[in-house]
Amino acid sequence: MTEKRDYLYDEVALGMRGRSLLSIHDLSVTEVEKIFEVAARLKEETKAGVEHHLLRGKTLAMIFTKPSTRTRVSFEVAIWQLGGYGLFLSAQELQLRRGETIADTARVLSRYVDGIMIRTFDHRDVEDLARHGTVPVINGLTDLLHPCQVLADYFTVYEKRGRTKGLKMVYVGDGNNVAHSLMFGGAKVGMDVTVACPPGYEPLPDIVKLAREDARATGATIEITHDPHEAVKGADVIYTDVWASMGQEAEREKKAQALAGFQVNQALIEAAGKKDVMVMHCLPAHRGEEITDEVMDGPHSVVFDEAENRLHVQKAILVLLMQGRKAGESGL
Ligand code: CP
Ligand code: NVA
Repeated sequence: MTEKRDYLYDEVALGMRGRSLLSIHDLSVTEVEKIFEVAARLKEETKAGVEHHLLRGKTLAMIFTKPSTRTRVSFEVAIWQLGGYGLFLSAQELQLRRGETIADTARVLSRYVDGIMIRTFDHRDVEDLARHGTVPVINGLTDLLHPCQVLADYFTVYEKRGRTKGLKMVYVGDGNNVAHSLMFGGAKVGMDVTVACPPGYEPLPDIVKLAREDARATGATIEITHDPHEAVKGADVIYTDVWASMGQEAEREKKAQALAGFQVNQALIEAAGKKDVMVMHCLPAHRGEEITDEVMDGPHSVVFDEAENRLHVQKAILVLLMQGRKAGESGL
């Protein structure tokens, strides 16, 4: 096994074992490259029908406080294809709902499982889970960040273009969790990221600052602007996301008004001025709001490739973080 899969035993891969993945900011440039390398290999094997039970006998708890289609299904299939088992845990049905603390939940789950994936509101809850648990914790989306999504997105760019360095990513819409992770990700893969959003909907200044600091390592730039048509000029990727994220239902109307001029439509694609500009969306899409049917179903759209790559990239993440753990290692 070690000869055959040397790439899982080099210094970078060994350095990732047992760690949590809460933010792309916490990964080094070479760790992001390692995730892409492993994802590409596992994807190729999967397509060729080659089984790879690299996490045989391991269990992944998957806690959801918010709805999900892609994250739930792709993580569950991922752990299954790796020879392990995934437990779907609705936060509504856990004792968390009745006041058991995140810290105690982390301590208990760490006695049963080899990894925890969590989707929730407050990013600090995920940090608490990682701090008090003894198994790797993976962020499956918080109000602040969506790292697994964005790793799959940049992997998709890499697959389609053979490189990421020097390319231009323009995110058009609300300065939300996905926008935050896109800035962190661009900084690591060397892609210039511009966020075009209405005044008052900018990404958080602390995240912009950190992303700019990270970007020094690759020479990428991080820009915030309020003019989407100007922003997309020369874009290699135009990315959008829903205007009202999960938990923001009460602001839906207000945000729809503010973001009305930020729809990704044919006119915006043409403003990019590049024949091969790619259109990305993390999904789910609100067709007719942030993106038109014409664009979503058109030749520039790679949205379903992104969705597929959630599976392959998350398999790489699970292997790199969870491999090498012995069953029952935590606490006993
Ligand atoms: N993109 C994404 O995370 O989708 P789900 O909300 O369906 O998991
Ligand atoms: N910004 C969106 C992403 C969904 C995958 C949300 O948080 O609802």
